[in-house]
Amino acid sequence: MFVGITDEIKRRRTFAIISHPDAGKTTLTEKLLLFGGAIHVAGAVKNNKIRKTATSDFLEIEKQRGISVTTSVMSFDYKGNKINILDTPGHKDFAEDTYRTLTAVDSVILVVDSAKGVEEQTRRLMEVCRMRSTPVMIFINKMDRKGKEPFELLEELEKELNIAVTPFTWPAGRGSNFKGVYNIFKNNIQLYTPEKSNLSELLMETGDISDPVLKDYVGQEILSRVREETDLATGLYESFQKNLYLEGYLAPVFFGSALNNTGVLEVLETFIEIAPSPTRSESHERIVKPDEPDFTGYIFKIHANIDPRHRNRMAFMRVCSGVFERNKIYYHVRLNRKMRFSSSAAFIANTKNTIDEAFPGDVIGVYDTGSLKIGDTLTEGEVLHFKGVPNFAPELLREVINRDPSKRKQLEKGVRQLTDEGLAQLFLQQPGNRKIIGTVGELQFDVIKFRLEHEYGASCDLKPLPFVRALWFTCDEPVELNEFLSRKAGFIAYDKENAPVFFAESEWMIKIIRDTYPSVSFHKTSESFRITENMNGKHTPLQNVQ
Ligand code: G4P
Repeated sequence: MFVGITDEIKRRRTFAIISHPDAGKTTLTEKLLLFGGAIHVAGAVKNNKIRKTATSDFLEIEKQRGISVTTSVMSFDYKGNKINILDTPGHKDFAEDTYRTLTAVDSVILVVDSAKGVEEQTRRLMEVCRMRSTPVMIFINKMDRKGKEPFELLEELEKELNIAVTPFTWPAGRGSNFKGVYNIFKNNIQLYTPEKSNLSELLMETGDISDPVLKDYVGQEILSRVREETDLATGLYESFQKNLYLEGYLAPVFFGSALNNTGVLEVLETFIEIAPSPTRSESHERIVKPDEPDFTGYIFKIHANIDPRHRNRMAFMRVCSGVFERNKIYYHVRLNRKMRFSSSAAFIANTKNTIDEAFPGDVIGVYDTGSLKIGDTLTEGEVLHFKGVPNFAPELLREVINRDPSKRKQLEKGVRQLTDEGLAQLFLQQPGNRKIIGTVGELQFDVIKFRLEHEYGASCDLKPLPFVRALWFTCDEPVELNEFLSRKAGFIAYDKENAPVFFAESEWMIKIIRDTYPSVSFHKTSESFRITENMNGKHTPLQNVQ
């Protein structure tokens, strides 16, 4: 351990902003960049709205990914801290991509719409945070609109998200009468000029809550209500305990309006104070601490064909320990070979720069010609497999039918590369090497077809299959496994790592199978058993098959 790296680790904050689509994730991201001084005028961050509108628009933007890829990670310095914001896709069909990104962050800010409260995607994302005990801060947005009452929202958060909450700010006024937020810990209300987008014109200096300026701007009635409600709230809710927040049990809650710049600075200031810097990463072999001198990192995201002229891909790597150095030779654990990265990039606000070194918590983009896959670990020679980048059981399955036999090779390559990117999962079924693609959302199928045509010149049909889920399975009883494999052959395929999956026609069928073959265990993610295969070079469940 050496001093330089410890300081670099301490000042880093790597996090993601997550929300149900439309709650205001993009707007809040942009405003954090604005208050952080990374951009100077609102409107500079590429709008991701297109991702949740029509498929054709989505595909169009995907085509132009050379520009939008930079928003995958945005870094900036703020008051001596290095902030890394990881972008997550807005569309629910890309939830899996979001889940994977969440493995690469140390904390999250969850945005909730004040009128809608907790929504479907809010619940799901929170489940993923809970799985990993990720510290969560909550921003209740759109207080400038008619919405639910703060007490109702806090109760809903606790009940629906199963997390204790502590309000840090409180809305002064609501809807069209929303004037700002009262900072419970600082006992003041920061006022903003909503129509200004330039940071220097944005803030109005105010003292504590007794400042007469506040009476003029906010009004006595609203001020009295704030006092009453916050007195009540501090009695009702847990006092803030940092350790509970860091363990993922307690979420500080902020109110505001990202669109009107209100309540955002309070989030940023608290965030740099309490959000965790990079902590240990779990690998299947051991716990890796960030201040270990040797570099380790893993790939959690891949963007293919960023530049259509060059057919290259960019892999996003999270640094877990040590210092990453450009041009140094590293060990690619899965391929058991050495690798050198000469064009590592970091992303400052919305521009991309070549970087020579990166520290734990940083996310760097490295160009790749096909040797990197999601979940790959890089080290200085140690055999490590980082946990937490699983594939999830797909719920929609379609068979790839080639429409142009002369383009078979292009189709094979395209399907392989697009599935390496994590866009969907590929399963092979015998006899005939049938290719079956599994996704969690419909939109991925359209994207795959479109990209196969436009990037690989291959055309195909994606024939729907009557399955509701693909589940990985393992079994320690060779006789039972053999019987299962032969009786259910038509429902069994193999993933890219040659692990078997079972295609279920209904939930009811899964239940029957479980009763009939009690020794067969089904897995909703690939991670629970995958490591044995990685370490042995072959797959466990089939080792016993005669
Ligand atoms: P997302 O990334 O979570 O999907 O949400 P995004 O920030 O794109 O915001 C969704 C919509 O909500 C946008 O309106 C945005 O302007 C609006 N919005 C965000 N924050 C606030 C807020 O604090 N108050 C109010 N009133 N609205 C807010 P849109 O009509 O879909 O798009 P646009 O034309 O305004 O860009």
